[in-house]
Amino acid sequence: MEKEQLTQLLREMTRNEKLGQLQQVTGDFFSDELTEATGPLSGNNLTEEDLVTVGSVLSLSGAAAAKKVQREYLAKSRLKIPLLLMADIIHGYRTIFPIPLGLAASWQPELVKETARIAAEESAVSGIHVTFSPMVDLVRDPRWGRVLESTGEDPYLNALYAKSMVEGYQGEQKTALQEYGTLAACVKHFAAYGAPEGGREYNTVNMSERELHENYLPAYKAALDAGVKLVMTSFNTVDGIPATVNKQLNREILRKDWGFDGVLISDWSAMKEVIHHGVAADERDVAQLSLEAGVDIEMMSFCYHNELNHLLEEGMLSEELLDEAVLRILTLKNELGLFENPDRFADEKKEKEVVFSTKHQEIARKAAAESIVLLENKEEILPLNKNENVLFIGSHVNSSEILGTWSWKGNPEETKTVAEILKAKQAIEQTQICEIASPFVVTETELEKALELAKHADKVVILTGETVDMSGEASSRSDIRLPKAQRELVSRLRAVNPRIVLVLFNGRPLALEEVSRDVQGLVEAWFPGTGGAEAIVNILYGKAMPQGKITMSFPRNVGQVPLYYNHFNTGRPIDHNNLENKYVSKYLDVENTPLYPFGYGLSYTTFAYKDLQVEKTVNNKILCKVTVENTGKRAGTEIVQWYVRDKMGQVVRPLQELKGFDRVFLEKGRAQTIQHEFDLSELAYVHTNLTRSWDTGEFVFMVGGNSEAVLAVNLTI
Ligand code: GLC
Repeated sequence: MEKEQLTQLLREMTRNEKLGQLQQVTGDFFSDELTEATGPLSGNNLTEEDLVTVGSVLSLSGAAAAKKVQREYLAKSRLKIPLLLMADIIHGYRTIFPIPLGLAASWQPELVKETARIAAEESAVSGIHVTFSPMVDLVRDPRWGRVLESTGEDPYLNALYAKSMVEGYQGEQKTALQEYGTLAACVKHFAAYGAPEGGREYNTVNMSERELHENYLPAYKAALDAGVKLVMTSFNTVDGIPATVNKQLNREILRKDWGFDGVLISDWSAMKEVIHHGVAADERDVAQLSLEAGVDIEMMSFCYHNELNHLLEEGMLSEELLDEAVLRILTLKNELGLFENPDRFADEKKEKEVVFSTKHQEIARKAAAESIVLLENKEEILPLNKNENVLFIGSHVNSSEILGTWSWKGNPEETKTVAEILKAKQAIEQTQICEIASPFVVTETELEKALELAKHADKVVILTGETVDMSGEASSRSDIRLPKAQRELVSRLRAVNPRIVLVLFNGRPLALEEVSRDVQGLVEAWFPGTGGAEAIVNILYGKAMPQGKITMSFPRNVGQVPLYYNHFNTGRPIDHNNLENKYVSKYLDVENTPLYPFGYGLSYTTFAYKDLQVEKTVNNKILCKVTVENTGKRAGTEIVQWYVRDKMGQVVRPLQELKGFDRVFLEKGRAQTIQHEFDLSELAYVHTNLTRSWDTGEFVFMVGGNSEAVLAVNLTI
């Protein structure tokens, strides 16, 4: 439909039809297909007549169901304005990929883009038009359960992943949404939802506007620059104002400064919750504040429905504000081609071919293998040898609960477990499987059997971690260690057999200092998704090489949190030549450093870095070169990380900032010179006047295989 036709359609709409477009409800308002509630349910007074004008639905899918709902809806729609169908496709639709914090550890934006493209295709043929993804909230606190959905603590990397996911979902910008198998993407949660005080879910966010601009906003902006069609508001306050009604955020930054003219949707009942925040007295206030702040769609609360008409009738709000919001929603429906084809790509036949296809499962296995991070490999206990007598034991050894939260259509019944994979791989004869029923209890009988088996095994592989509902939304934890029963099991097994490998399934960085001492091998598998079990077995037996690197610091203990690599020096930094000095920034009872730093991950081989050279080129670039050598016994992939420190600034500057990375595969004994060129603009930072620019002065350029092990060279620019 041409733009003029849209404005003509808007002119023909009644007030009620306009208000209906602003309302989103769950699919079960329209279908007996039970849809999963992903937030608190509250009463509503929607009538059958209201449902005829509702503009969008969330959490309904399936080609047949979607087509049926659309058909029945349009039959009653006076102006034939199609419904929008939205859903949380966070790390796959039915083929489930590793959780985003795991995918991020692959350091492969192209791979992440491919997983988003697959998720979009499976969703689109199943009738979905919009995904509430990517979640790009920067995180520094593993107590918060939703770190699982983020890509970690670095603004540069988060921005890269934001771009890759938007392009994976929507296709390339120029033809976005016309291509088969695309979805409109919705970047969330705007803004800074990842910084709740105490890591406690839905808690207050407090930070300076400069910090917001420096670290928290870049990834949302990257999603916008990639053409994202929707933005979702967050539950938290920003500078004392709930994000959903925050005009500085939504009108000034998002729409005016960044030029976003897409759809702004509230998070689930986030509008009504402005009353709990104490910034609106009632739904009437909420409706006024939200429309003035530019919120177009209200998800699963009903302030607009209940109050907007009164406010418009009384002249408290202008019809133009309402028309703006409605036109943005109609424009999105038009870009999706829904007016011409309300079913879009929904197709039962295609659904059977494409969803959970063998090809998609293969990518899921690859993504899982390249997201897994090897944290310890003492005495090279890994890889296992297929002739070794290995005991596989634990709460997750035969668990199909490895998809993680937000794996909506992912089906544990069709998810292979590690035990099933081991049994299927006849080549591995000498394995024994010992299931522990629960991560929270090890019974006497289980322990007795475990100790007996461990005594006679060459090696013991313990598979355990969190249950799926211990991370994700509404899953903050104040104690981020493994469950006590697991820590005790590790310690008891170590007493009879020290040759232990611990494989972890979890959605957040755990505090692992205690168990890391008790084991020789430590593997972070995250919630690895559909292909996770096979990926883990392949990594353990060396059929696949561990190459993942964490993008969020793992603390020694929760008392260190928030903990992140790009921190400041402080006025009293530790003097490593005088560790006795009391009056410096440190703890009495733990080191400042994380147990495993940002960018850390081992391989089955080793890499050496030498000859770092840095120079300013004639065309005002910074050219860095380093030689990386594979000094181990096996081929392997290294993620070469480039960091910069600006030694002097108008505001304090971090000791390190990731500015680039290169993946390199090297056969054993081979070396390669890697070079990376930076533009001076990449040295920019947010000054006190909130503008981004770079200063001349002294810089340190660093390179290494993680944020702690780096070569460094100074350069004055
Ligand atoms: C939830 C989440 C949000 C999700 C939405 C719809 O509360 O905060 O990320 O997209 O509701 O399920």
